[in-house]
Amino acid sequence: MKIGIGSDHGGYELKEKLKKYLDSRGIEIIDYGTNSNESVDYPDFGKAVAEGVMAEECERGIVICGTGIGISIAANKVKGIRCALCSDTYSAKMAREHNDSNMLALGARVIGEGLAISILDSWLDSEFAGDRHIKRVEKIMKIEE
Ligand code: RB5
Repeated sequence: MKIGIGSDHGGYELKEKLKKYLDSRGIEIIDYGTNSNESVDYPDFGKAVAEGVMAEECERGIVICGTGIGISIAANKVKGIRCALCSDTYSAKMAREHNDSNMLALGARVIGEGLAISILDSWLDSEFAGDRHIKRVEKIMKIEE
């Protein structure tokens, strides 16, 4: 699986740690920036990763800012994206099983590295359950039309 990852300055350090973790799991990464602690605007990076997912440069995307809120809102503006902001492992699992989320958002100032890795594992290792959830996800996507 190839994963796109991006953050603003608030998420930069967690992004670097998660890149190492993804690498240790043998997952290929595309890093859409940012590349330092210097202040940047989170919509630029939410958009970049989301567009990468939709262009099929990567299968799924991870975005990180201070709270995860701004960057998830930005990512969700790109047509076809279902970006779930998660601060617990149960929500991360459900975001795949019920919502077929193709992006995960994390808040680096909200959760620590250990929890972020557990959330990431839950999200990566869960699959869409299909069945009754298909029509609900389709209804979400119809809102974009
Ligand atoms: C940057 O200071 C901060 O606003 C950003 O990382 C994020 O929390 C926005 O939602």
